[in-house]
Amino acid sequence: MKVVVVGKHEFAGKLSTEIDGAIFIEIDERTFPDGEVCPRLLLDDGNIMQNAHVIIAMQLALDQSKNQYLISFLLTIYNVKRLGAAKITCIMPYHIYSRQDRESRLGEPVSSMYLASMLESAGINQYLTINSHSYGKNPLSDFFSESESISLSAIPLVAQTVKKLSNSSEDILCFSPDEGALMLAKEAADAINSQFYGAIRKKRDPDTGEITQELVGIDISLQNRHILIVDDLVSSGGTMIGAARIFKQQGAKEVYLGYIHGVHTTEKFKKLAKEDIRLFVTTDSIKSDIPGLTTVSVVQLIAEWINSKLSS
Ligand code: R5P
Repeated sequence: MKVVVVGKHEFAGKLSTEIDGAIFIEIDERTFPDGEVCPRLLLDDGNIMQNAHVIIAMQLALDQSKNQYLISFLLTIYNVKRLGAAKITCIMPYHIYSRQDRESRLGEPVSSMYLASMLESAGINQYLTINSHSYGKNPLSDFFSESESISLSAIPLVAQTVKKLSNSSEDILCFSPDEGALMLAKEAADAINSQFYGAIRKKRDPDTGEITQELVGIDISLQNRHILIVDDLVSSGGTMIGAARIFKQQGAKEVYLGYIHGVHTTEKFKKLAKEDIRLFVTTDSIKSDIPGLTTVSVVQLIAEWINSKLSS
């Protein structure tokens, strides 16, 4: 089946060059003065989508409204369907609304589940993301009931980049800044052959959002050690700042941060730079140009998965 990759040059264009025989169609994303979006497919041939496997790969940008991004995505799915696509794969490298995956307080929407339902209603057959926050009790497949869903992990890429850039032969101990991300710390440790992983205990006040963190159950000295703190995402930076301070107080020699999604919502994130952190390594699941960050691309990871599916 003909494969058409749809999106912007920087991400989808790059992805299309990694997929054998794929045709790339660029989207021109126009926003009207009233905020409505108009993602136009730049087509020379109106029949190009007919009977094709269309892969829509859209990267969120840091300064972009997530809600406009979602509408743009949905409009594009409907659009390629109308133009005759036989199969639609949706690639949302940062799975928006993924933290709202349960009703934490009575009456709250399970937004992650509703998002899946919207994408499926629009017509997707396959959904791919990078390190979705939905795991544990609510894995992605619970929400995508009518389509195939997959969350690829970029943790090994991030951890190996930290190891390489650290320029040190010292063992790097891997920690998560809360218990929910413990398995990510383990995955990072495995990827760099580290002997140790663990988690900080974090509690968040549901009303104020204020967090408290403490190091418990660690029976080794962290004095002069190299520590990598691993999480799926950094939003305000509060979780990472708190964790980094704990390790610095424990006498760690170097603290590195590795996370997949740079959501970077507030100025607070910039304070991280003042916390004497040696490296910040993240991915291009969200497009940003914050100075001082090392960004590893997830394009190759996605292309490998698609190519393996196309050839099977
Ligand atoms: C929480 O479950 C997530 O894994 C992150 O730790 C959290 O969302 C980060 O948020 P912030 O940067 O605002 O502390």
